[in-house]
Amino acid sequence: MAAAAAAFSTHAFLRSVSTPALIVDGDAFDGNLAAMKALVTPLQARGLTVRPHAKVHKCGTLGRRTVDALAASGLCCQTVAEAEEMARAGVADLFLTNQVVTPAKLDALIALLLWRPAGLPTGLRHLGLLVDSDAGIDAALAAVGRASQARGEPSCALSLYVEVDAGQNRCGVAPPPRSNAVLTLARRIVAAAAADDDASAVGHGGGVRVAFGGLQVYHGGIQHVRTAAARAVAVQAGPAAAARASVALLEADGIQVPAVCGAGTGTFLQEASAGTHTELQPGSFCLMDSDYGANEAPPSPPAVLASEEAAAEVGVAVNGGFHQAVFVAATVISVGGGAGGRPHKAVLDAGVKALDLTAGPPTLWDWRRARPFAGACGGQWAFRKGYDEHSVLEFVRSHGGGGGNGAGDDAAVAVPGQGAVLGVGDVVLLQPSHVDPTVNLFGRALLVRRAASSAAGSAASSAAGSAAGSAAGLGERFVEEVLEIGGRGLGSAALFRC
Ligand SMILES: Cc1ncc(COP(=O)(O)O)c(C=O)c1O
Repeated sequence: MAAAAAAFSTHAFLRSVSTPALIVDGDAFDGNLAAMKALVTPLQARGLTVRPHAKVHKCGTLGRRTVDALAASGLCCQTVAEAEEMARAGVADLFLTNQVVTPAKLDALIALLLWRPAGLPTGLRHLGLLVDSDAGIDAALAAVGRASQARGEPSCALSLYVEVDAGQNRCGVAPPPRSNAVLTLARRIVAAAAADDDASAVGHGGGVRVAFGGLQVYHGGIQHVRTAAARAVAVQAGPAAAARASVALLEADGIQVPAVCGAGTGTFLQEASAGTHTELQPGSFCLMDSDYGANEAPPSPPAVLASEEAAAEVGVAVNGGFHQAVFVAATVISVGGGAGGRPHKAVLDAGVKALDLTAGPPTLWDWRRARPFAGACGGQWAFRKGYDEHSVLEFVRSHGGGGGNGAGDDAAVAVPGQGAVLGVGDVVLLQPSHVDPTVNLFGRALLVRRAASSAAGSAASSAAGSAAGSAAGLGERFVEEVLEIGGRGLGSAALFRC
């Protein structure tokens, strides 16, 4: 949708929004892309590739911008719906970083691979799928077989990657020396690819060419280890060790490993430093959440960015880290309690249908200062409890605080221009504790910018400029675009197969 013509003061803008609403700060988003670009450019120069994860935003528009900004090899997705949304947005190379074993979902993915949309330059040219069992390989090859009978185009490639458990104890085969399953599965994929080549040589084999893509060795559980030093230790003990042992086993068997994929926002520099991973797949960096905000930024310069120039170039990004770019706006619909007419309870119109609370409560956000409210000056509003459609905030007085009505009280509330007292109709911004499942609760988001910036200008802005800009004053905001969060739900996969 086109940008709205009017610019609002931030407070007027927030009051114009139908809450609960998902708001993406386009300036902060672009700043995060610029910060990531500064970090990964030296790595790309050394041959690593970057494939950001789209599960965080599930939005084709944002996915496309991410690929373009980072010269990425493509995107990662976690679901069929996300893959369909990214393909519709014109991303030609996708890696589904989850085990998919049901025929209906595999058929939908292969159909996506064979899809040649009118009006898009390519359609999907390459799809990666993960397996960690013989049954998974059987299911994927069976889906390719079904598609081949239908005779698709001959030019699309399906890579099967073996997932190795890096210590999270979720999906993935145990790494050597505990298990040789990675070798067993890789041999099967290599054999299937060779058979596919033979079939193609005699003009048989349908539209999907199967190949061995390599390994995924990812550990989500260590992304939020708070200090960079501890994350580095965790990467060495987990994904780096598992990747090293797996690659050594395959190479000793004569199997070349085209790629080792993994890493998230918390550890991608550490996997790159370890030298074990060739493709990095961070996701949350572009929108961020309070759980990631609590991570200590990596030391500057990180060891992986060896040269002085590279370090100088990324210094701001590394020190400043990534900035919060997504919020849930909620309206105060009821207030109560409190002596002297000052409410100490405020009820918001956003509960667990608009906020994922599994990683803890959201944080009240001060947009003027681009950080959470500090809680100085007599206390702060704290998130007490989330219900289906309600959240309850409580004003908690700090010991020794004045609790007066001075200008400083503004720091304790989340409503630009409203002073310390939250009233019915006021709008607050909440920083999600966990971004992916919160975004998943919304069908659309408002992409908002400061009126002074233009899309082109901010896309080109440096990490330093963006970081400073995010912290700039109240300014004016305008809605640049309504984003469709199209990658939710099942996608076009059949609900059941007869
Ligand atoms: C397999 C995989 N890779 C990469 C990521 C991206 O991690 P983050 O969002 O922490 O950057 C995730 C996130 O859950 C993931 O599951």
